[in-house]
Amino acid sequence: MKLDTRIFPNIDTLSRAALEELLSDLREAIAQRGRCAIALSGGHTPEKMYALWAANEKYRDETDWNRVHLFWGDERYVPPGDPLSNYRMTREALLSHVPIPTANVHAAPTSLPTPEQAAEAYDQELRKFFGSSAPAFDVTLLGLGPEGHTASLFPDSSALEEKKRWVVPVQVAAVPPNRLTFTLPVLNSSRNTYFLVAGENKRPILSALRAEPDGRPSTYPAGRIRPANGRVLWFLDQAAAV
Ligand code: 6PG
Repeated sequence: MKLDTRIFPNIDTLSRAALEELLSDLREAIAQRGRCAIALSGGHTPEKMYALWAANEKYRDETDWNRVHLFWGDERYVPPGDPLSNYRMTREALLSHVPIPTANVHAAPTSLPTPEQAAEAYDQELRKFFGSSAPAFDVTLLGLGPEGHTASLFPDSSALEEKKRWVVPVQVAAVPPNRLTFTLPVLNSSRNTYFLVAGENKRPILSALRAEPDGRPSTYPAGRIRPANGRVLWFLDQAAAV
């Protein structure tokens, strides 16, 4: 499979390049549609990008925060203050340092009593925001797990075949096991999708993705991210690049 890759010396230069690309898409979205909807990624890799967005006066102040709406492509089913929460990571790195209206921060409602109820409520929040016709994120950030998962879509998961629901609860072989994740119909509706991948431990999975023949569905969830009307860019550091 051919990946449209951009390779950088380290996570800092990768993060800056990805942020500048995102801000360009953000300006275009606001100019064309009056708002920008971003699906954020969790895990560790995007943290530096979020912190750069908050710390760099140019990036922070040129962002029209009133017109930016943030969602999470997946979330761990833990309280929002839990150290494992993607929302908490983002709040500490970015949200608590920028003037984004609270109403524009669409965190997954993981305080609801069950993962099923949380997924259903988040699904409804997306439909309320986009209208039930079709989701269309302007930018989606994604990470890559060593076995090829992305968001919380793991290999062989039945969630990969979900065609109707936009958010589903999943149990995964990772900590914590209970998560909510966007499904492929949502992830493949994004206008711009950026994978942020850093570290030598991602080299094998990148090789495996590249070795797959085109024209057949990938055996890896990350390889199933193929928006019909959107671009997918892979921002890699040297350590991950093959
Ligand atoms: C999560 C992420 C997950 C992550 C990958 C890569 O909730 O953990 O959504 O898909 O992006 O596991 O994680 P790292 O960036 O920590 O390597």
